[in-house]
Amino acid sequence: MALSYGSMADSEATSTATRPRAFSGIQPTGTVHLGNYLGALRNWSRLQETTDGVYCLVDLHALSVPREPGEIQRATLEAAKDLISIGIDPQRSTLFVQSHVREHTELAWQMQCVAGFGELRRMTQFKDKSESSQFVSAALFTYPTLQAADILLYDTDIVPVGDDQRQHVEFTRDIATRFNSRFGDVLVIPEHRIPQAGARIMDLQHPENKMSKSAESPMGSVLLTDTEAQIEKKFKRAVTDTDSEVRYDPENKPGVSNLLAILAVATDGDPTTLAENYTQYGPLKTDAAAAVIELLRPIQNKRSELDDQTTVDLLNLGADKARDVAVPVMERVRDAVKLL
Ligand code: TYM
Repeated sequence: MALSYGSMADSEATSTATRPRAFSGIQPTGTVHLGNYLGALRNWSRLQETTDGVYCLVDLHALSVPREPGEIQRATLEAAKDLISIGIDPQRSTLFVQSHVREHTELAWQMQCVAGFGELRRMTQFKDKSESSQFVSAALFTYPTLQAADILLYDTDIVPVGDDQRQHVEFTRDIATRFNSRFGDVLVIPEHRIPQAGARIMDLQHPENKMSKSAESPMGSVLLTDTEAQIEKKFKRAVTDTDSEVRYDPENKPGVSNLLAILAVATDGDPTTLAENYTQYGPLKTDAAAAVIELLRPIQNKRSELDDQTTVDLLNLGADKARDVAVPVMERVRDAVKLL
């Protein structure tokens, strides 16, 4: 693919220091799904118009649960292709791999020193993941301190995420404020940006759970790489509710409301208004599938043009750009903590 990418000088020339900075991350574990896309990634792409975007493949976070050697390496490359194909422009934004910028782990230690054991224990993601795992690593427990370091290392103003990351961003604000009260005005306090629609896309088979990479049934998640036939099948088999009324009511009708939410976000509509067009579940499922196919088609076309080497080159460029920001911020933190 003719993906040209500029020198450092080119990339610096296109970034404007006065824009607010957006930072977010995704774990490179398995294929990106529709929940990731509608809840977060689509906004990353849109925010490029108004912000200086820094987007990170958080491979070290992915190691907090046991993995086979090499698994994360391959998944990181694939996830980078996903991000580029959904519209993250590695020249306009900074797209990079967490482990390529060593300052993340260094700042994470400083964050662990100001985070409370009790506040980490209250993190709902830790509770959920530790209950369902046989081996619970110390890294799974301290995970939010590395996430806080990711965000704080880039003087981030806004963090575009899905609803499940709200608590982690609030934790980041809390510990950054604590750090500043101990060591001076060193860290920028970020805010989350959670979309009104699409912030929590649910599993198609278990609409009481969010769509997730680790779902028990593959029929529950729509992947960015799914074929038209697979998408149609998944929507056709989607679990709906016992009565047949089409109404947007996430609490009492989670299955149908999820389909309406997906259709609404995919078509920039409103789920309650859209519900008025349907008297049966069948046509709603067909329309939701068709809207998702349309939405994913350009992404899939672009993805098929990306090769490994081009992607690696773009990630190397991203790491250079990321270090330009992260290194001085880490120096600021070291100076403030005052070690010999
Ligand atoms: P991760 O990899 O689980 O998900 C990436 C993004 O996708 C959103 N998301 C969803 N949105 C709507 N509906 C869903 N079903 C759904 N599932 C996932 C997530 O909210 C997220 O925005 N801890 C983070 C990664 C991370 C990070 C960061 C994020 C590490 N450092 C710094 C922001 C800033 C995570 O595991 O996301």
